[in-house]
Amino acid sequence: MTDDVHRPSPGALQSLIYTPRSPQSEQPSLEVLDQLLLPNKKAYIPVKTTQDAWKVIRDMNVRGAPLIAIVAVLSLAVEMSAKSNVQGKDGFASLQTAAAWLQKAVVYLKTSRPTAVNLFTAMDEVLLLSQATTKKHDAVGACVQNAAPLVSAVVRFAEQMLKEDVESNQAIGDHGAAAILANLLPGQGVKVLTHCNTGSLATAGYGTALGVIRSLHKEGRLARVFCTETRPYNQGARLTAFELVQDQLPGTLITDSMVSFLMATQGLDAIVVGADRIAANGDTANKIGTYQLAVTAKHHGVAFYVAAPFTSFDLSLASGDQIEIEERPARELTQVQGIQVAPQEIAVWNPGFDVTPASLITGIITEKGVIHPFPSAGATDAKPRVPTQ
Ligand code: MRU
Repeated sequence: MTDDVHRPSPGALQSLIYTPRSPQSEQPSLEVLDQLLLPNKKAYIPVKTTQDAWKVIRDMNVRGAPLIAIVAVLSLAVEMSAKSNVQGKDGFASLQTAAAWLQKAVVYLKTSRPTAVNLFTAMDEVLLLSQATTKKHDAVGACVQNAAPLVSAVVRFAEQMLKEDVESNQAIGDHGAAAILANLLPGQGVKVLTHCNTGSLATAGYGTALGVIRSLHKEGRLARVFCTETRPYNQGARLTAFELVQDQLPGTLITDSMVSFLMATQGLDAIVVGADRIAANGDTANKIGTYQLAVTAKHHGVAFYVAAPFTSFDLSLASGDQIEIEERPARELTQVQGIQVAPQEIAVWNPGFDVTPASLITGIITEKGVIHPFPSAGATDAKPRVPTQ
């Protein structure tokens, strides 16, 4: 890493602080912003082990598909670095011991949350790296007494991932802004809507869907961004609204149930959302409520975009009905901040995500450009809005 500390851009919100190994410190370190305390308090939680990472992911202190994967990989780098400096049973006696430890840690980290594919892909890539490193050293000697080559490889992989995430988000932002602006009159201000949180708090920085909105703002074309509250977990109200205020973007918070009325009465140019897993045919799993946004966008002729890096694609799945959807606890619906607001006895269904069929998606905005999974969808139906401001 060229920077001493991971800082996406001066003054920007940091979902995590990663400090690489330096002359002052033998080991890298990691802290994550506790998103459960936002918007009222900013506090960081140290992540020293893969158990710490598993817990902050499972408990939703950190969330968002790219960030979950990044925190898991960085935790491997941090714990492996610490173990490589320790002698005895807590350390790594050999490269093979480190590889065996890594294999178990990867399996364990994969059990933290099921829907976002980024975690699974990143873990599989770390395993491939481990196999390649072990093979290379096996070729020269039976048992390598030093785990350093594997530890260094994992640290390099993690640091590269951190850097590439911010870069790909900036590219997604610029491709997305260009795609949305292409359908508008020159100079027309854009009204967009986003759902859940896909910003600096869901990534290593800048964000995916919120990155597109940041790029529109950078170009002076963002008239207004509406963010949905995102019931039941309120990522929109707690996190996206916080990022909009912090970065002084013209934002308006609405409840999830206001979207159709907003489109009918105030007009909207585009919806941009993130993704947790995109199947080979373009069907997209994202935060619960995304699907109904796409349905109402179709009805009102509003363009519906998904913004996600290539790491959010799962080409092993032919279609979205094969995506595992996380079921969340009933208390997220029956309680508000610990206060019971529904009868305890009521049955609850609380899927954390839904799947939007590719046929409703105008385009998937990636770091390499925009993919149109269903060329007849969205874009061709979308009518340019007559500007109201
Ligand atoms: O349950 P969460 O908060 O992890 O869900 C997050 C989302 O659904 C995001 O929209 C998605 O991960 C894309 S983040 C860039």
